[in-house]
Amino acid sequence: MFSSLIAAAVLLPAVANAAGKSTIDQIAAKYGLSTNYNFTQPTDALNSQAAQKFLVSNWALNGDHIDFGLNDISFVKDPAGDAGNAVLSINYPKGSYSGQTGGTQFYAQPLNASSSTPHLAGNASSDGQFERMLLAYDIYFDQGFQWNLGGKLPGLRGGPDVWGCSGGHQSDGKSCFSTRLMWRTSGNGEVYAYIPTTMKNFCTQNSYIICNSDFGTSIERSSFGFQSGKWQTIWLYVALNEVGIANGEVSIWYNGVNAFSLTNLELRASGSIESIGGLYFSTFFGGYDSSWASPSSQNSYYRNIRMIGGLGAANGTGQPSAAPTTIASPTLGVVCGAALVSVLGLASYLF
Ligand SMILES: *[C@@H]1O[C@H](CO)[C@@H](O)[C@H](O)[C@H]1NC(C)=O
Ligand SMILES: *[C@@H]1O[C@H](CO)[C@@H](O)[C@H](O)[C@H]1NC(C)=O
Ligand SMILES: *[C@@H]1O[C@H](CO)[C@@H](O)[C@H](O)[C@H]1NC(C)=O
Ligand SMILES: *[C@@H]1O[C@H](CO)[C@@H](O)[C@H](O)[C@H]1NC(C)=O
Repeated sequence: MFSSLIAAAVLLPAVANAAGKSTIDQIAAKYGLSTNYNFTQPTDALNSQAAQKFLVSNWALNGDHIDFGLNDISFVKDPAGDAGNAVLSINYPKGSYSGQTGGTQFYAQPLNASSSTPHLAGNASSDGQFERMLLAYDIYFDQGFQWNLGGKLPGLRGGPDVWGCSGGHQSDGKSCFSTRLMWRTSGNGEVYAYIPTTMKNFCTQNSYIICNSDFGTSIERSSFGFQSGKWQTIWLYVALNEVGIANGEVSIWYNGVNAFSLTNLELRASGSIESIGGLYFSTFFGGYDSSWASPSSQNSYYRNIRMIGGLGAANGTGQPSAAPTTIASPTLGVVCGAALVSVLGLASYLF
């Protein structure tokens, strides 16, 4: 069964040079992404209070609101000594994990399609919104960063409920989805998604998907790895499926190399999730208990955050969402045999 599912994988056309690297422009062209937004950075360092004002003034935060971590945000000189603007620094205090004890979270929505007219993008149905989005950012962890069990990292979200689809509040397919990144032990990378898990076979068909991995769905764990003491570039592409068809996509490029592309996904079950809403800047250690805590006060840093939106839902083939679904995995991620963690009954507001 396993091999027949893999054999049915839909291979995406290659967009890479001989070294396996793509440019962001190649990816944007491949997916028909048209509208670019660069998040601005201040030229000089800013303390927490000034950084907070800067984000609210410049990053189109939902509700002009930073959910938590006001004291853990600042803009600092580039930790690698690179020239250019100050970079966003996020502190994880020693002992912090979930529960708003360290790191930060906010939802930035600077990019909306200007057209309310439905468009056709490669014949995919479209509500005239950005249903496809590439998120790009550079990330740096302090030299010698202590990863412990893992933590959340920025990704994308969407849907009318701007609070759901995190902290154990599962997706109902109608009100929200989220696709953040996570680091795990030793800096192993993955996408950590709150999406419907009702597709037949979705949770059982292969080792790339771990449903209810501390509530969310762990996608392609260890298909790439974060390192400390150097800048790394992340590109996350998410395309919402056409409603009723499991043809959505989640893909990651690490330093320009495709870590994985998962197609045939259902990210929404209703048109009420009409677009990729924006940047879900959510980062903290955890995890639901103190075993996830940051072993020391340490930081991550961000620069060149950027989104490129495209009109139209995903336009690949896909089964009706009620049918048995094959999640296509063209890239064989090196997935460690991660155990399914049962967390039923634990407080759900923590992460
Ligand atoms: C956005 O940033 C990219 C690189 O980070 C740069 O090439 C591009 O010119 C920028 N676009 C605008 C409009 O500033
Ligand atoms: C984009 O749309 C969202 C949701 O309607 C809204 O909160 C946000 O302010 C919009 N962003 C801009 C830049 O208009
Ligand atoms: C899907 O959309 C892309 C980008 O717009 C386009 O290049 C491609 O031809 C489309 N494919 C199909 C099968 O419609
Ligand atoms: C779009 O649909 C038309 C009519 O069915 C078809 O001729 C054309 O090949 C389709 N284009 C793509 C990119 O699938």
